[in-house]
Amino acid sequence: MTEGRTVLVTGASKGIGLRTAERFAARDDVTQLVLVARSSRAFEDAVARVSALNPAVAVSARPFDLADRPGIRGLVRDVHAAHGNVDVLVNNAGYTNPQPIHQIRFEEFERTMAVNLYAPFTIVQELLRLGNRFEVVVNVASTAGIQGRSGWLTYSASKAAVINMSEVMREELAIYGTRVVCISPGRTATDLRRTLAPDEDPSTIMQPEHVAQVIEMLSTDVGRFVDSTNLVVRQ
Ligand SMILES: NC(=O)c1ccc[n+]([C@@H]2O[C@H](COP(=O)([O-])OP(=O)(O)OC[C@H]3O[C@@H](n4cnc5c(N)ncnc54)[C@H](OP(=O)(O)O)[C@@H]3O)[C@@H](O)[C@H]2O)c1
Repeated sequence: MTEGRTVLVTGASKGIGLRTAERFAARDDVTQLVLVARSSRAFEDAVARVSALNPAVAVSARPFDLADRPGIRGLVRDVHAAHGNVDVLVNNAGYTNPQPIHQIRFEEFERTMAVNLYAPFTIVQELLRLGNRFEVVVNVASTAGIQGRSGWLTYSASKAAVINMSEVMREELAIYGTRVVCISPGRTATDLRRTLAPDEDPSTIMQPEHVAQVIEMLSTDVGRFVDSTNLVVRQ
């Protein structure tokens, strides 16, 4: 395992991404942590919290809307120029707006695909074009991508695509020594879950910290032995 790694986490303002960032910040083999989410007070607070955890880890905030696909190339170039090689990439940012089929607006479908699928693809592609050599790429899909649910068409479709995209990345990037792991969490107590299941009691389901522990484990020595195309994490 290399020392002094740079870790990039998208969707780091809250939920699973924030918990994941906190865990990486506590590691002694991480020196740079780059966090992406849209610009907000919540993101600023999250970055301040993560930065305070460990003075040995330089935390950098990159406020950005990942639905802006053309803009992602500039974001990635800036990150690469400022921080060098990204060793661990966690494509975690996710979006959903559940609607029955006849009410889905195509712009919403496009937004869901942009954030959940095109953004992780574009980040990986642009970094590869810059000569980046990943150690690990973790793509966060969902059990909704394995089993569609009524009202979740756009979200389920985007996550099914993430699962398959990850399989191709896994095969293509193996020659560089890169491990690509797709994880599919089940229901986890976050804002996104509240959007999908507003009546559920969040204390009865998996917590974001549990998923974050699995994501972090994937980039440890033990994580090297996880040989799974789509790792399901659920209660
Ligand atoms: N919670 C669950 O039950 C569950 C189950 C399976 C999979 N997942 C997946 O887990 C991942 C994390 O979600 P979560 O449950 O932790 O939800 P969350 O708490 O709502 O967090 C979602 C994160 O994605 C970011 N994000 C959303 N749209 C964005 C955009 N356009 N540009 C940049 N960042 C954006 C959000 O940041 P801002 O809004 O601050 O920009 C936030 O940091 C997602 O991929 C989700 O699909 C969740």
